[in-house]
Amino acid sequence: MHTKPLPSLDARRYAETFAIFLQRSLEYDLMTAEIERVISTRLRGPIRMLDIGAGTGCVIADLAQRPALAFAGYAAFEPNPSHVQVLQTLLTKLPFPAQLQARGFDEGVQIEGQHDFVLFSHSLYWMRDPAAAMLHAAASLAPGGVAMALIQGPYGAHALFHLFEDQYLRLSPMLQNNRISSHELVAGLRRRGVEPEVRILKTPVDLTGMFDAGKVHELGEFMSFLLQLEYGDLPHRLQLDIAQYVEGGCVETDGRLLWYLPNASVVISWPVDGNVVADR
Ligand SMILES: C[S@@+](CC[C@H](N)C(=O)[O-])C[C@H]1O[C@@H](n2cnc3c(N)ncnc32)[C@H](O)[C@@H]1O
Repeated sequence: MHTKPLPSLDARRYAETFAIFLQRSLEYDLMTAEIERVISTRLRGPIRMLDIGAGTGCVIADLAQRPALAFAGYAAFEPNPSHVQVLQTLLTKLPFPAQLQARGFDEGVQIEGQHDFVLFSHSLYWMRDPAAAMLHAAASLAPGGVAMALIQGPYGAHALFHLFEDQYLRLSPMLQNNRISSHELVAGLRRRGVEPEVRILKTPVDLTGMFDAGKVHELGEFMSFLLQLEYGDLPHRLQLDIAQYVEGGCVETDGRLLWYLPNASVVISWPVDGNVVADR
């Protein structure tokens, strides 16, 4: 089943569809709790944090309010101009020194200073070589510091590409490469001799009502975000196959329809001698 070639979503459509996804996602509370757990169990004292792909800063805004965490400083990379504006405003309100590099990060970027905690929260999909980017950032860690990536696990959205990507022709690369999951990241780290600690987080998406007749537009936006192309431009039969696949993976819990879409936490530690410690 082939269709006319389809471009991947542009920056505007990415932002629109991401907003719909976020309204349905139940992942952020579990993610920030996991960040707190990793920092509290592995680091001591006020930390210097580097947040790569900070978006609008919702993660640091949450972490900064947690009594168990203390920050000596915060630095971020964020290339999206509209996110940068919001982030700048937020950073002026943080009760510790904060600085922003309004540009993209990759393994060629020079990182200033040392950090105790480096975070990639759902930003590695945007990097050419996620494992290389993570290791490059980890090289800025002080002894005992940790680098953590929160990234989709190889489940729901990731599986869509294996099942359906050969049934349409994609004209342009995805801005956010949803083919990348913890599976590819961990393989890339292992190829470089680095063994990370991986935890799968039980992060569902609430799809209650999403398959009702009146929700066709929202369903289309949600699917477009997952596939990073206009779902409504796919042949009708293929749309049905994909929707049925997603709906079939949902479970009704406490009156809600939840799609199991686990994120992974991938953590590496970097002592000053450069030997990677898997777990302590
Ligand atoms: C899915 S959002 C995640 C934002 C935030 N970290 C969160 O967890 O909500 C991915 C972010 O990565 C940013 N990004 C894209 N390319 C990047 C790059 N090369 N370096 C750093 N960030 C990048 C995007 O602009 C976007 O804000």
